[in-house]
Amino acid sequence: MNIILLGPPGAGKGTQARKLVEERGMVQLSTGDMLRAARTSGTQMGKVVADVMDRGELVTDEIVIGLIREQLTSGNAAGGYIFDGFPRTLAQADALGDLLAELGETLDCVIEMQVDDEALVTRITARSTCGACGEVYNDNTKPIPADGKCIKCGASDFQRRADDNEDSLRTRLMAYYKQTSPLVGYYYAKGDLKTVDGLASVDEVAASISAALK
Ligand code: AP5
Repeated sequence: MNIILLGPPGAGKGTQARKLVEERGMVQLSTGDMLRAARTSGTQMGKVVADVMDRGELVTDEIVIGLIREQLTSGNAAGGYIFDGFPRTLAQADALGDLLAELGETLDCVIEMQVDDEALVTRITARSTCGACGEVYNDNTKPIPADGKCIKCGASDFQRRADDNEDSLRTRLMAYYKQTSPLVGYYYAKGDLKTVDGLASVDEVAASISAALK
């Protein structure tokens, strides 16, 4: 089963993708994670990507479609793929459809995670991530343990993302509404769309996603 998690920054896409990986053996393809890896590569492309991401704008379709193509053509996901943060434009959605068709695969479900803007700002400005394993924390709802060690891997290196500030977040939200939210109508028209309330607790959202995938 191949699915897309669609939603604005902070909707909980990464959090739910990690649960699906653990529970269903699916493979998470996060273009955000791939681009964060590219920005540390020291290449010219990495520097361009870093500037664009820090401003909160979208990286070019050409770059992200190339990254996804590379993963899909070299990988093998028996449990299926979770597309997290991809596609984000209509061009990316068309490219994903073509790529899956080329590989004889299908897109089985698109989960739209709805969260209001106020909650997004609160969530994002309170987020931190384990630098070793990527486990996501939140100062309000899932604080870093008192012993300062990650619950998943025991590491003590927690990071805040450079684009998790109010200025970048405003641009990221604008990019979502202008360039990504048209995908809701696109996938609704294709008959693939299911919507969940992303404002519920992490476990309740996970249960809604499971129900949507039945
Ligand atoms: P990306 O890394 O994809 O970031 P994003 O879409 O902005 O989403 P986030 O990772 O910020 O949020 P999330 O929905 O995963 O929420 P999370 O689970 O962490 O993209 C970053 C940048 O890369 C883009 O701005 C762009 O520049 C570039 N890029 C990436 N893909 C691209 C593409 N396809 N095309 C072009 N450019 C691209 O949760 C957030 C917080 O809330 C956490 O602290 C978490 O603990 C908490 N939380 C989660 N769920 C709940 C809940 N139910 N209740 C309470 N708290 C919760």
